Amino acid sequence: MTCGATLAASARPINYQLPDETAAFKPGPGVEAAQNNCTACHSADYIQTQPRGPKFKKDFWQAEVTKMIKVYGATIDEADVGKIVDYLAATY
Ligand code: HEC
Repeated sequence: MTCGATLAASARPINYQLPDETAAFKPGPGVEAAQNNCTACHSADYIQTQPRGPKFKKDFWQAEVTKMIKVYGATIDEADVGKIVDYLAATY
């Protein structure tokens, strides 16, 4: 029986290449506000993996932050919402 040997020979070691700092916010003005308010429930990956482009700017992030508050119950200070939206729109 060479079946097992053949299988083992064809199996290559798996090596995932992870991008650097997947879980960190990009530096920029207002990053602290995002860091303080947006990491309680999930990592910055959720922000990192959102679609990009001119359509996904301020309105998009405003809606995203509002959704975190209204739908998922995030407790974010009203004063921080603007800072976070500006930061996200400018940085992502
Ligand atoms: C109270 C918990 C909580 C906080 C705080 C929170 N989120 Fe979320 N967030 C969630 C949940 C729950 C999901 C949906 C998870 C899933 O679908 O797997 C989510 C998903 C997301 C997504 C993915 C897209 C989507 O709409 O589902 C983005 C982007 C996001 N959050 C951004 C933010 C930002 C920006 C902040 C800070 C302003 C924030 N989150 C703070 C709970 C939170």
